[in-house]
Amino acid sequence: MGEPAIVPGGRRHVLDLDDFAAEEISAVLETARSMQEVLGRRIKQVPALRGRTVVNMFFEDSTRTRISFEVAARALSAAIVNFSARGSSVEKGESLLDTVRTIEALGADVIVIRHAEAGVPQLVAHAFGGSVINAGDGRHAHPSQALLDLYTIHARFGSIAGLRVVIVGDVVHSRVVRSGLWGLTTMGARVTLVAPTTLLGPAAYWHATWPEVTVTTDLDRAIDGADVVMALRLQQERQDAGLLPSLGEYRRRYAITAERLARAAPHAIVMHPGPMNAGVEITPEVATAPQSVIEAQVGNGVAVRMALLYHLAGES
Ligand code: NCD
Repeated sequence: MGEPAIVPGGRRHVLDLDDFAAEEISAVLETARSMQEVLGRRIKQVPALRGRTVVNMFFEDSTRTRISFEVAARALSAAIVNFSARGSSVEKGESLLDTVRTIEALGADVIVIRHAEAGVPQLVAHAFGGSVINAGDGRHAHPSQALLDLYTIHARFGSIAGLRVVIVGDVVHSRVVRSGLWGLTTMGARVTLVAPTTLLGPAAYWHATWPEVTVTTDLDRAIDGADVVMALRLQQERQDAGLLPSLGEYRRRYAITAERLARAAPHAIVMHPGPMNAGVEITPEVATAPQSVIEAQVGNGVAVRMALLYHLAGES
């Protein structure tokens, strides 16, 4: 591992990217590059977090994010414990914050939490003496996903400033978009959000926080010359009745197809945070095309999460 980047100011928690300056994002990406180098070795482990304990508390389904934090913690030699609400005292009525205090008393240094309710990671951060990483709260934030997306874009283009990024899909329900917007705009990308009106929400809502972002229902126009095309999953578990047009109609106007992708810049990359509804928001052909970096995103997620764990819990 090379000399890790020093995070300006230091920080205890990663709850969203709204409080990350460009300098700090760059520092995380730089550390993640060192971590990627570790992951390329035959023995994919360094002792940076030996003796530290990371607890994964996932109250919502997850495959890649949970496993990715687990692999990341192990690669840094931390102990990792997967807390499962089922079978725990949460089922006996113990409050979440009491559970957090118990986990602290048992010696946890970092809690990685995913919860269906927005704001839970902030509450946990107030109650817990260690560090908290938000692994996704409701529609609110998903900072490690946004950082791995930035890492993936940077790895391909060498910089982020000035790139045209189109994010298409269920933006209204997406925590990936909200953290992504903080990160992308802070790094100087030009972002366009695309969705049918009902999955887009009012333009004024987006402009109130991110005035520089373009919002449209017209994918064919937005994708013209784009450098990055990011498709989002239709969040079936978060749909209020009546928001979704028919799947066929959605597909016809918003799926990333090879034909549509041909309108983007020739060097354009295609991203998706997963899990994909293949054949709905993206065709299987595009998902596996050479322009797709979807698999790279998953691999990069481990390096970026190692960087976050290292910055929060490593010696400095
Ligand atoms: C995202 C999430 O959970 O917010 N997935 C992920 O973390 N890889 C996106 C999604 O569920 O659609």
